[in-house]
Amino acid sequence: MITGLDHIAIAVPDLQQAIARFAEDMGIPLKGTEDVPSAKTTTAFFPISGTQIELIHPLDGEGPVAKFLEKRGGGLHHICFSTDDIEADMARLQAKGYRFLSEAPKPGAHGTRVAFIHPKSAGGVLIELAEHPREHGE
Ligand code: CO
Repeated sequence: MITGLDHIAIAVPDLQQAIARFAEDMGIPLKGTEDVPSAKTTTAFFPISGTQIELIHPLDGEGPVAKFLEKRGGGLHHICFSTDDIEADMARLQAKGYRFLSEAPKPGAHGTRVAFIHPKSAGGVLIELAEHPREHGE
């Protein structure tokens, strides 16, 4: 089940400049940065209103975000919904005709497991689903 808006991701050609924009100009505190080798990205997170702005930048100048920047320049890249059962949501959406970029969830930032819906099957919007690791005792 989809449980919330996890983050909004923005592709940025210059990570330090973009961090300065959101942290200093907008005044949203930077929570941290993380490299996500599985997606060939480095990310910076700004929590706000129960969700996060996530800046994404190519790791080592390669990968899908590098291609996005070459083609379109910086800009909105994807939105991400949190889910409490990613396999169930993938199966439910695939049954409705949505195509995913991977057959199975992949490791994302913060220990999540993530999957992306192809934008061509979702009205031109790249949609990510993310399942967070369960807390102990849950
Ligand atoms: Co994301």
